[in-house]
Amino acid sequence: MPAAPRLKVLIPHADIRRRVRAVARRINRDFRGQPVHLIGVLSGACIFLADLARQLDLEVSIDFMAVASYGREKNSSGQVRLVKDLDSSIEGLNVILVEDILDTGRTVDYLRRLLAARRPKSLRIVALLDKPSRRLVLDVRPDYLGFEIPNQFVVGYGLDWAGRFRHLRDICALLPGSGAGRRTGRAGVS
Ligand code: PRP
Repeated sequence: MPAAPRLKVLIPHADIRRRVRAVARRINRDFRGQPVHLIGVLSGACIFLADLARQLDLEVSIDFMAVASYGREKNSSGQVRLVKDLDSSIEGLNVILVEDILDTGRTVDYLRRLLAARRPKSLRIVALLDKPSRRLVLDVRPDYLGFEIPNQFVVGYGLDWAGRFRHLRDICALLPGSGAGRRTGRAGVS
């Protein structure tokens, strides 16, 4: 029987809460008096989005998108395609794309092009976590960021390993030997 995965707390919930508040303060300041439209990328961003939205003193609307990645497990093309589109138009809106983590940058690169073509008033990117050492699309950078982290496999606060651990309050590193290396929350198309 495979060993149970071992987790180590990397960012405790209290630190996440403080940082989410700080990010929200910056968004509140930048968009004072204007509505913002949050777009969450399913599924990982759902918990971050829910906490962030409740810290915004702005008029907030929310929508979600989902994508699939070709060859995600095999390190091949990494091509991204849309599997769930928005429910409504974003033309003329202040759009903030909400991600749990930026890794290669392919997902955000794909989504920012797709969204920009729909003529929002503005388009910003907020990410809870960033792994800049993994970036393949070099000009993908968050406008608002929670934490920069090293190249460790992390779970919790929305992030999964094979569908598990999204509900954890802390962000945890999956320790070596736990089988880390695959996220299968997203529909992978090999
Ligand atoms: C994660 C995360 C981002 C993406 C970042 O999604 O939520 O959307 O990977 O990776 P990239 O920068 O290399 O494109 P995942 O595929 O784990 O799906 P999930 O959100 O459903 O867990």
